[in-house]
Amino acid sequence: MVDFNAMLAKAAEAVDQELEELLPAGQELEHRLFDAMRYAVLGGGKRLRPFLVIASGEIFDIEMAQCLRTAAAVELVHAYSLVHDDLPCMDDDDMRRGRATVHVEFDEATAVLTGDALLTLAFEILADRQTSSDPEVRTNLVLGLAKAAGGHGMVGGQVLDLWAEANPLDEAGTVRMQRMKTGEMIAFAGEAGGILARARPRQRQALRMFAHDLGLAFQITDDLLDVEGSAEDVGKATGKDAAAGKATIVSMLGVDTARDRATLLSRQAAAHLNHFGDKANPLRALCEFVITRDS
Ligand code: IPE
Ligand code: IPE
Ligand code: MG
Ligand code: MG
Ligand code: MG
Repeated sequence: MVDFNAMLAKAAEAVDQELEELLPAGQELEHRLFDAMRYAVLGGGKRLRPFLVIASGEIFDIEMAQCLRTAAAVELVHAYSLVHDDLPCMDDDDMRRGRATVHVEFDEATAVLTGDALLTLAFEILADRQTSSDPEVRTNLVLGLAKAAGGHGMVGGQVLDLWAEANPLDEAGTVRMQRMKTGEMIAFAGEAGGILARARPRQRQALRMFAHDLGLAFQITDDLLDVEGSAEDVGKATGKDAAAGKATIVSMLGVDTARDRATLLSRQAAAHLNHFGDKANPLRALCEFVITRDS
């Protein structure tokens, strides 16, 4: 059995170094923005999406430098989504990754603009020749991330998540919302190695289906941790979903059924990897991690 925690830590260290280089501190009058971007991104987070990019790239022997730039772009969009998710007009959270959220540490306007700048920087990185010398690959990365992050992906899901506080969703609606707000970004991260490799459509599709199921299992576990986890372990306030009336599989079906659902989805995710043999072992280990994590 591979030591998953060691693999995750190694990938996190590599992507942290890449992010550090991509986010130099500003010297100009607007340096407060760059301070806030660095605060939002560096020094915390599991780096699960970067791990997915790197591990899917390794299946196809993609150069590490290309994987790391792509992984950094995905993490920047994820970090932006967290900065905005925590704003008073959204989930109104004061703690993230074990410290004050960006709007608390800086101010609300800076938090909004920090999110904007992180999102934009992600596309600047993907569009740069250093990410891939092949323009079609770069276009496909930009296209994939844009779709995952946009109105039919993460942002659309966030709108539904907020709307559902006052307008209850049924189970199908909740799964759709979670697929959009969390699943699409994770699906892109899982497919990214296949995009960089110009893999056959069937291979890309298998990766996408794997990561899609993984993303749903991941969000159910996030919802379980909100009920059962400690703020100290998860680095953010817990017990908030029920208080805000969030639509979650846990609130709908209860803790035990939600856990069974996450387990099933995690197994389903792993089954999509049969295609790839031993090279997909890190991704198989990730399936287990996603549902057993305590943070
Ligand atoms: C939290 O994501 C937001 C969700 C989509 C559930 P993570 O649990 O991956 O957060 P970090 O990056 O490790 O802080
Ligand atoms: C956030 O879902 C999903 C995003 C797109 C950021 P949550 O609101 O449940 O994430 P946490 O629990 O605040 O990390
Ligand atoms: Mg939220
Ligand atoms: Mg939240
Ligand atoms: Mg949550």
